[in-house]
Amino acid sequence: MMKRGDILPPSKFREDFAPLREEFPVCYLDNACTTMRPDSVVDAVTSYYTKGPGCGGRSPHRWGNAVTQNVVQAREKIAKFIGASRSEIVFTLNSTAGINQIARGINWKKGDVVITSDKEHNSNFVPWIQLKNRGLINHEIVNSNDDNTFNLNSFEDACSSAGGNLRLVAIPHISNLDGVGNPVNEICKIAHDYGAEVLLDSAQSVPIQKTNINQLGCDYMTFSMHKMLGPSGIGILFGKEESLQNLDTISGGGKTVSKVGSNNLEFLQGPQKFEGGSSNYAGIAGAKAAIEYLEGVDFEWLERHVKKLNTIITDGVKDLDRVSIIGPSSASERRGMTSMIVDGIDVHDLAIILDEAGSVMVRSGFHCVNSWFDSMGFSNGSLRTSAYLYNTEDDARKFVEIFEEAVTALS
Ligand SMILES: Cc1ncc(COP(=O)(O)O)c(C=O)c1O
Repeated sequence: MMKRGDILPPSKFREDFAPLREEFPVCYLDNACTTMRPDSVVDAVTSYYTKGPGCGGRSPHRWGNAVTQNVVQAREKIAKFIGASRSEIVFTLNSTAGINQIARGINWKKGDVVITSDKEHNSNFVPWIQLKNRGLINHEIVNSNDDNTFNLNSFEDACSSAGGNLRLVAIPHISNLDGVGNPVNEICKIAHDYGAEVLLDSAQSVPIQKTNINQLGCDYMTFSMHKMLGPSGIGILFGKEESLQNLDTISGGGKTVSKVGSNNLEFLQGPQKFEGGSSNYAGIAGAKAAIEYLEGVDFEWLERHVKKLNTIITDGVKDLDRVSIIGPSSASERRGMTSMIVDGIDVHDLAIILDEAGSVMVRSGFHCVNSWFDSMGFSNGSLRTSAYLYNTEDDARKFVEIFEEAVTALS
């Protein structure tokens, strides 16, 4: 059978997205923030409400059973998609919720050290600062190389300085600041040698590159379905079985316990322990549909595709006065992302002009990586483009054309 990835993408994909079927479709280059959703995902969410709005794992009637089945199938599909097993997949609200579950669920010992990079999304920064402020951990930051790539030597030094107290390394797989990927295998190996676990914040990687948890070697991984064609409000926390077993739940409640009394409380093992209360069943149905859609995408093609569009954007902006690109100069090292500092021009003004002049949608500001912008003194933030499977070379060229005109006009 021919896979979608084999046949003339992205035009093939574009038919599946309602905003792209409009007479004047938008040029949406804000995919690192959130993606558009194909009809099949919208239909799956709607079907839950119109055809069987029941609760999973509880009521034995038709609707209840259908939802229970769907949750099992969705969990299995997501597990297979990243090479994990079903018992390692926890449904969460989003990446942020998954990271907070880990931060608050680990039984910290006095002196424990958590290492992060210097360009964390607030979701992988704030939880550690909160713990540090409560005196529960020491937090160490590893500074990047000058071109914003990961500095393995500094990382190894930080691990060594933490000595036997290193407990967790929490690092993005791909940065949402600049699209740079981190050397995950080496990071996992070094962290494990020091006896620590590794949490990969994979919000930006799972959507664009084939992920196999066994090849990565991390202990935890978090990602958000809304960044990979799925609904908002549904995320995934992967945890190795042993890691999940040792993690306390921050969501104790209905469906999490096998025994409950005021003097005896026994939690279920596995994902259910972390999924207290009724779940986002519509979101889970949509997540399953998103994975089914992505199963038809050739990820090798996808990586090449976003890099190709990023090269057009990079070549178009790199020599403009006032503009400097964050991270490596080579577009392919930044996947589908170009993040630009624009000297002396408000990036929000530029983003608004791009939208008004050509329906070109990009992100402007700090992208929730406030600590990096603060430390570098870039108080204006950056303008960021991020491509996905439905974007075309025309989208990239349109961005460059309007961006150049806008920068010239505002200079
Ligand atoms: C690298 C990274 N981590 C975490 C998050 C947080 O994701 P969510 O808002 O879905 O929780 C994002 C979102 O942009 C991200 O890019």
